[in-house]
Amino acid sequence: MPAIERVLFTEEEINHRIRQVAGQISADFAKRELKLVGVLKGSVFFLTALARELTIPVTVDFLGVSSFRHSQPAPGMAPGPQGSPGMVRISKDLDESIEGENVLLVEDIIDTGFTTRYLLQHLSGRAPKSLGVCTLLDRTPRRIVQIPLDYRCFEIPDRFVVGFGLDYRQLYRNLKYVAVLNPEAGG
Ligand code: IMP
Ligand code: MG
Repeated sequence: MPAIERVLFTEEEINHRIRQVAGQISADFAKRELKLVGVLKGSVFFLTALARELTIPVTVDFLGVSSFRHSQPAPGMAPGPQGSPGMVRISKDLDESIEGENVLLVEDIIDTGFTTRYLLQHLSGRAPKSLGVCTLLDRTPRRIVQIPLDYRCFEIPDRFVVGFGLDYRQLYRNLKYVAVLNPEAGG
């Protein structure tokens, strides 16, 4: 099993930053109701941590997506867009309507941007009152499609990361920190 090469953000750093971003969101929505929409499974960990720090009325719902990339990149390899762009499909839809609601799409990481762009198109077709994006991690060097990003906790370098919801072959999601995997040990 690949080993952790180095910790990028500690539990304390992540929780501190989430409190800051939650404060910003609570101020922006001031007493209005906000629906957090999470993407299974990666964003669940971030969404619940964020939700607990919000001081406005909050509801939550989840979407599942499958992207037709052949595999996740090996640790140490830049995770390239291996499927063709737009090859994303909804594997689990929202349980409730978002019509007329303030919706915040909560992501674990925005990489190329294809997944987020697809989800924004999908959600905007459901006539929400407003639609924003909040991500734990943002890897801007690899962005291919531009997407409007309202809230971001951290920018990260072009390395494959795990923890706080992010997986390598479904493992490491439960780490309390975000770390780079050792490329030698992976694969
Ligand atoms: P995008 O469509 O290229 O923006 O891909 C976003 C999705 O790719 C995320 O929701 C993750 O599931 C996955 N992903 C991208 N980079 C990483 C990484 O470094 N670690 C774990 N998953 C990643
Ligand atoms: Mg994944």
